[in-house]
Amino acid sequence: MLTGVCLMVKESAAGRGVEVSMRDEVNLSARVDASGIQRCVLNLVANAVDACAEKGKGKVEIAYRKTGDKFAEICVSDDGPGMSQEVQAKLCQPFFSTKGSKGTGLGLSVTRKIIEEHGGRLAVKSVPGGGTTFTVCLPRLSKYTPVGRVAASTCLSPALPAPVPIAANV
Ligand SMILES: Nc1ncnc2c1ncn2[C@@H]1O[C@H](COP(=O)(O)OP(=O)(O)OP(=O)(O)O)[C@@H](O)[C@H]1O
Ligand SMILES: [Mg+2]
Repeated sequence: MLTGVCLMVKESAAGRGVEVSMRDEVNLSARVDASGIQRCVLNLVANAVDACAEKGKGKVEIAYRKTGDKFAEICVSDDGPGMSQEVQAKLCQPFFSTKGSKGTGLGLSVTRKIIEEHGGRLAVKSVPGGGTTFTVCLPRLSKYTPVGRVAASTCLSPALPAPVPIAANV
């Protein structure tokens, strides 16, 4: 899934002076809605490329790791201009954008919503002048994992999605 995101943006980013790469691949899968999570990572990578392109060049790295048996983390890091505290405080507000007519300001609010619907969390670390890292933390077994015995007639949760390989080119 992440390799797919990388391939989708690599060429257009290179045309703007930005190198997009993926840190080493391991077998890691999670029970997620693949197209939803792919869209989230694409939004984060698009923002990182935009930020670096502002400087004229830069690097964006997509990485992932297992955190314990239950969680997977996907990190999108860039060495762009970073963000002030004021911008960071407004990041997920719908329609907040510093890109004028080039941004709708919906990317991060939609991204956070999709992640939270998976029972996950979105975090950011940014240093003005020193780059930005967004981290998506996802439960690998889905928030719908049944806890103990649930009577069939009261179980309204959707079926578990099939595990999606995080690294494969889907
Ligand atoms: N990696 C980053 N580096 C610096 N600023 C960022 C980064 N990611 C997001 N931002 C800031 O957060 C703002 C909101 O991002 P968001 O993705 O929600 O909207 P947008 O990119 O402006 O528009 P769009 O809806 O088209 O994605 C951006 O306008 C930008 O100022
Ligand atoms: Mg965006």
